[in-house]
Amino acid sequence: MKLFNAALLLPAVIRETLAYTALSDSTLRSLPGPGDNFDINNGALLSPILIPRVPGTEGSLAVQKHLTEFFSQKLPKWKVTLQNSTSVTPTSNGKEVPFANIIATRDPPWAHGDGDVSRLALVAHYDSKLTPNGFIGATDSAAPCAMLLHAARTLDEALTKKWESMDAQGDVDDDGLEGHRGIQILLLDGEEAFRTWTHDDSLYGARSLAEEWEASSYSAWSAYHSPLSTIELFVLLDLLGEENPKIPSYFKTTHWAYQKMAEAEKRLREQKMFKSSPNHPSKLKEGEAPKGEPMFLHEGGKKDTDRWAGGFVEDDHLPFMARGVEILHLITSPFPRTWHTMDDDGEHLHMDTVEDWAMLTVAFAAEWMDLEGFFDAGKAQPVKRNIDEGKTEL
Ligand SMILES: *[C@@H]1O[C@H](CO)[C@@H](O)[C@H](O)[C@H]1NC(C)=O
Ligand SMILES: [Zn+2]
Repeated sequence: MKLFNAALLLPAVIRETLAYTALSDSTLRSLPGPGDNFDINNGALLSPILIPRVPGTEGSLAVQKHLTEFFSQKLPKWKVTLQNSTSVTPTSNGKEVPFANIIATRDPPWAHGDGDVSRLALVAHYDSKLTPNGFIGATDSAAPCAMLLHAARTLDEALTKKWESMDAQGDVDDDGLEGHRGIQILLLDGEEAFRTWTHDDSLYGARSLAEEWEASSYSAWSAYHSPLSTIELFVLLDLLGEENPKIPSYFKTTHWAYQKMAEAEKRLREQKMFKSSPNHPSKLKEGEAPKGEPMFLHEGGKKDTDRWAGGFVEDDHLPFMARGVEILHLITSPFPRTWHTMDDDGEHLHMDTVEDWAMLTVAFAAEWMDLEGFFDAGKAQPVKRNIDEGKTEL
């Protein structure tokens, strides 16, 4: 039997100080953007999700297939499972509607996955709302799903390199914490209400998954007692893709993680990696004075005594939060103007903003997973900045 490192049992706030390395400027500049993959008409990642995908319909199955095949074909090191449930809904005339959560997991190669690994969970819902008829839900949440696919793909090789390097150095067991951390993408089904939002008519997939993950327990000798308790942080992306998003910091207990992400955003902006920035080389004219940077995560400086609105926005985090999981909720306030209307479609996405979110998600997860030094710095540099001359060039 294996005794686990005490570091595994430390609360998140202390763990944070153990391993969280900021990405260097050159790594930030080397991160690939999603580019054509986010084309709304034929992009490999986003366009297949931009169809109605109400649970139990053909559209839902087609999107499920797209999402699971992305991992099985492009990222075979990720383990993909479906967590299924059924429920009667207010519009199903007594029939059971199927819901399938998609769970893609990447753990260190030596992990058993039976309670010896904790994970960063990146989460979005892939279902769309029944009404209005033909509703697409581009910000809600096709674009966030595509951002997570992009993140998984960008992190994949760096994760491989990091774990190979740890293995080669033989420090897998010495460092109980770093050697036992994985990452998980949760693409949840049935977030939307079928009729009107109530506790019973909403969050079908999330409620089922949280319940199942709490109830299934690992052996008493495991570092973690259930799949639910392996979640280090539940990062929920929702309603993203409109221009000028404003994301409050909702929860005091995860404000430190919010601040880490805000810091990554600030540094990506400084490195001219944010396409939506008014100071991006494509926007700022030659000789023009730099403009103020409008931060997506604008509450980095929030105080304990300020107003914390956590809990007022009902979303897929609720069944997890009720069971003690720490939440970072990335949802805009106010909601997008197109929210729950036919205008929430591909054409109304602000693509620079969508790409920036993808980039920021990658940077945050890479820092969380301690991946500095494991990216291929020579790869894909859409924007270069000539630091010596203080100039910016495309
Ligand atoms: C879950 O449902 C999907 C259809 O949505 C099906 O293809 C799959 O086999 C089911 N998986 C399990 C484990 O029951
Ligand atoms: Zn919605």
